[in-house]
Amino acid sequence: MTLKTTLSGTVLPEVDAPVTQLGCADDVAALVARGDVLVLTGAGVSTGSGIPDYRGPRGAFRTGHVPMRYEEFTTSPAGRRRYWARGLVGWHRIQAAQPGEAHRGVAALERAGLTRAVVTQNVDGLHQEAGARDVVELHGALGRVVCLDCTAALPRQHFDRRLDAANPGFAERAAAAMVGLRVNPDGDVELPEDLVDGFALVDCPVCETGRLKPDVVFFGEAVPPARVRRVTDALAAASSVLVLGSSLSVMSGYRFVRAAVRAGTPVAIVNAGPTRADDDLVPGRDVRLDTAVEPVLAGVVARLV
Ligand SMILES: NC(=O)c1ccc[n+]([C@@H]2O[C@H](COP(=O)([O-])OP(=O)(O)OC[C@H]3O[C@@H](n4cnc5c(N)ncnc54)[C@H](O)[C@@H]3O)[C@@H](O)[C@H]2O)c1
Ligand SMILES: [Zn+2]
Repeated sequence: MTLKTTLSGTVLPEVDAPVTQLGCADDVAALVARGDVLVLTGAGVSTGSGIPDYRGPRGAFRTGHVPMRYEEFTTSPAGRRRYWARGLVGWHRIQAAQPGEAHRGVAALERAGLTRAVVTQNVDGLHQEAGARDVVELHGALGRVVCLDCTAALPRQHFDRRLDAANPGFAERAAAAMVGLRVNPDGDVELPEDLVDGFALVDCPVCETGRLKPDVVFFGEAVPPARVRRVTDALAAASSVLVLGSSLSVMSGYRFVRAAVRAGTPVAIVNAGPTRADDDLVPGRDVRLDTAVEPVLAGVVARLV
């Protein structure tokens, strides 16, 4: 795949890069029928729910979105103010999103006992809302908040109520300012600077001074080692890997696919557009469909569940 690096340092696949297709939807069903599938999902399973991806043709990176980096969040009070002001509005949009066909398909495979693990790079919680029970959230979840200083974990709802109370009238002014604007995949929306400047932050209720952060892995931050180990262990026991709706540009997801290929574990990738692993796949063993996830998964579920 051809990759290019943007000004903000993020890696983007060329959307028009040609993709070599390997196999067909029947081959995906045949792999899944063997059971013990490690499912790895990305932003592409949630685009149907109205949450944009980063690197698809209409992805947030192509419209100039610059996600918050870990270093800025932890070192800059102004950066945290901007994040939480914009995130308060964005989160309400993400929370309102409903699971779609792809999330329901993955939940059906899990219920039928065909999965070894469901691993997602998404932070929207939609797999669980669709009924999946045991999901490894590789990059965490927007629905939880953690204290960087005392490590307390809080549900987002509780935190949002405190933020709302500390900023009377903000939600209404922000909603009026962002009419027609879309939410970014990390729960961020563009807001006028003056609204952001006046935004009051709240501290951790446990240690009373701590900096609160959404429980998501920011750009520039590593996935917690215990979480990586959980996926590595599941991969060792998996009979195949099924990638759904991910460009695999981010190393934290790509590395599992690369490890599977090296171990000779068959990989099936269903993604509209190129992925970083396309050149790694082995014809005759691996499957690559350059198409929408939903109809392929619905076909697999109809045959096997
Ligand atoms: N919903 C979310 O929680 C969300 C959304 C965007 C990004 N992220 C973050 O982005 C990073 C990982 O990137 P990624 O690989 O998941 O996203 P990505 O944007 O890099 O790739 C998504 C891919 O899905 C494809 N796609 C879009 N809709 C599709 C569909 N219906 N069927 C098939 N393919 C479709 C796109 O063309 C693109 O290639 C992670 O860090 C993750 O935390 C999360
Ligand atoms: Zn604290």
